[in-house]
Amino acid sequence: MTDPKEGYIVIIGSGLIGRSWAMVFASGGFQVRLYDIIKEQVTAALEDIRKQMDELTKSGMLRGSLNADQQISLLSGSSDLKTALEGAIFIQECVPENLELKLKIFSDLDAHVNNTAIISSSTSCLSPSKIFNGLRHVKNCIVAHPVNPPYYVPLVELVPHPQTDPITVEKTYHLMKKIGQSPVKLMKETDGFVLNRLQYAVISEAWRLVQDEVITPRDVDIVMSEGLGMRYAFLGPLETAHLNAEGFKSYCERYGESIQRVLKNSGPVSNFSSDAMIQTIFVYLQALWDEQPDKSDQLTERREWRDACLSHLAKLKKEMKKE
Ligand SMILES: NC(=O)c1ccc[n+]([C@@H]2O[C@H](COP(=O)([O-])OP(=O)(O)OC[C@H]3O[C@@H](n4cnc5c(N)ncnc54)[C@H](O)[C@@H]3O)[C@@H](O)[C@H]2O)c1
Ligand SMILES: *[C@@H]1O[C@H](CO)[C@@H](O)[C@H](O)[C@H]1NC(C)=O
Ligand SMILES: *[C@@H]1O[C@H](CO)[C@@H](O)[C@H](O)[C@H]1NC(C)=O
Repeated sequence: MTDPKEGYIVIIGSGLIGRSWAMVFASGGFQVRLYDIIKEQVTAALEDIRKQMDELTKSGMLRGSLNADQQISLLSGSSDLKTALEGAIFIQECVPENLELKLKIFSDLDAHVNNTAIISSSTSCLSPSKIFNGLRHVKNCIVAHPVNPPYYVPLVELVPHPQTDPITVEKTYHLMKKIGQSPVKLMKETDGFVLNRLQYAVISEAWRLVQDEVITPRDVDIVMSEGLGMRYAFLGPLETAHLNAEGFKSYCERYGESIQRVLKNSGPVSNFSSDAMIQTIFVYLQALWDEQPDKSDQLTERREWRDACLSHLAKLKKEMKKE
């Protein structure tokens, strides 16, 4: 493999996720080019990244070993696709989640890249088969699905197309490691990948428990944030089970039957367009917000608070890691 730092990481789409990716790659010392179909969006992205990096520096949360100025100097922008792709070794696509749009982008990229560049998609829900079928460079294509916000949550799900070259998977895996993300490899495609399949199971059960009037929306959120989530920030469900009994086998012997009984009686999949339920949950979220002292911009403030929590958690996880 050529030393990646010699070539360019190209980000296609300079929105929320594109900006985050750009920052993560720059923190790893890579040269990054941001492309967007809207010229102003590239300018806005570069300005926003500088602002974010300055704030991260102030709070001591800037990632990587380079300072903000050094990281900024690795970033450039372009609103011409061909120029943007010059010297590209790895392309991370971050355009809106729309199949037609993605197909158009990948066919354009396919026409411009050379035989070694990796084409990676940030898609949350579209399967590699849907977006990469028939491309000349399909063996270099992969999904690298980040978690929002990628700067604070390191997981990346790598999902291959059936024709993806194993070398593409390995190269992408090592690149992700190099920039400080935590990649996992799916061995084949599955609808929703893995993170969302797990997340949907949790949302679905929360919805059911509220709908069945077992618990209030506020309390179901507390069950996760003050209960399950405390452990899950450090251990997965399998190791959690292992530690909750005398090993995993003992866990299955002790709890297997009751787990099966509970799941069997869980009923059909909920209908997530129930107006009554959406209203109930809205009332809870509104009340939660009304308790806050400053009520300027609900979503923005709460997201900033979330990101601050996550960056502290990331620090703690690093300290707690036994190497
Ligand atoms: N937002 C999340 O929580 C999240 C998490 C993981 C993955 N993703 C995935 O990341 C991708 C991007 O999501 P986002 O939230 O950053 O969207 P966004 O709307 O914030 O940004 C999309 C950007 O793409 C640009 N764009 C539109 N058409 C384009 C084109 N033809 N060529 C180049 N640029 C174009 C837009 O101008 C915009 O800047 C989606 O596939 C989404 O599923 C999002
Ligand atoms: C493709 O382009 C990259 C970046 O310029 C370069 O490092 C690589 O050697 C090229 N590969 C081929 C096969 O031309
Ligand atoms: C879900 O609920 C909505 C609104 O109550 C209804 O219009 C729709 O038909 C339901 N869908 C299914 C699959 O039951």
